[in-house]
Amino acid sequence: MTRVADLVLVSDDGPVRTVRMNRPEKKNALTVPMYEAMADAIEGAAAHPALRCVVIAGVPGAFCAGNDLQDFLNASAHAEGLAPPLMRFLAALARVETPLVAAVSGLAVGIGTTMLLHCDHVVASSEARFSTPFVHLGLVPEAASSLLAPRRMGHARAFALLAMGRPLDAAGALAAGIVNTVVPPAEVDAQALQAAREIAALPAEALAATRRLMRGSPDEAIERIEAEADLFGERLSSEEARAAFEAFLSRKK
Ligand code: COA
Repeated sequence: MTRVADLVLVSDDGPVRTVRMNRPEKKNALTVPMYEAMADAIEGAAAHPALRCVVIAGVPGAFCAGNDLQDFLNASAHAEGLAPPLMRFLAALARVETPLVAAVSGLAVGIGTTMLLHCDHVVASSEARFSTPFVHLGLVPEAASSLLAPRRMGHARAFALLAMGRPLDAAGALAAGIVNTVVPPAEVDAQALQAAREIAALPAEALAATRRLMRGSPDEAIERIEAEADLFGERLSSEEARAAFEAFLSRKK
């Protein structure tokens, strides 16, 4: 059995912590223990002032395929909502005062895309693909994306992404303001690390104050995360969602 410590690799290099999702055989679909480990790593970084930036990374070709759909099917069968560790992870993204950089090495689905809206700097592979098929799965958006995506890219583009489930390629994500830089696949990690080191070298107090001014109170995002989660929990048990999860899990390749 794979240990959770192998599914999320956390390493510190000077002032930069890297949190790497590492479940390549499932394209980095996230399970409850993985959310727990990622929340620990992000909250833990905030507790260490010497850590000045966190990089969230994936594996070659896959940043994150979203929540594990088998987990969603199980939650649906037991009429459970979003798992507490997932909620903790989302709250950590919204509240953490340590700047967040993402290294998007490939596909970014569902929360793989919506977590980027909490990041301060995003480096993406030229082969990255961003999609949020929530409505196709009978679900609603999460991670405060219903608030942050329209604010970031305008209603029309956010509607195409979040409601219609239309994917964005790297150039589209750059144009939509989700991504800062598009680089060849082999350079994603190095460029993200370089940006993280640049951020970590800035005067700490001025950077913290600037980031707080730019992001405003996290309470607004937290409130939206909770409102979305109430609806998401209801939708998880819906017939539409159950049918979509079963169709994916039983598909023939
Ligand atoms: N939950 C559970 N398993 C997943 C998964 C997910 N979200 N995403 C991928 N996997 C699994 C696949 O079932 C497959 O497992 P198997 O080899 O045991 O059959 C493995 O990961 C590789 O995925 P595969 O579909 O073969 O890779 P691909 O490159 O052809 O497609 C995706 C990748 C991500 C486009 C496709 O797997 C997909 O659409 N996944 C679902 C994404 C999703 O809806 N996420 C939830 C959003 S809320």
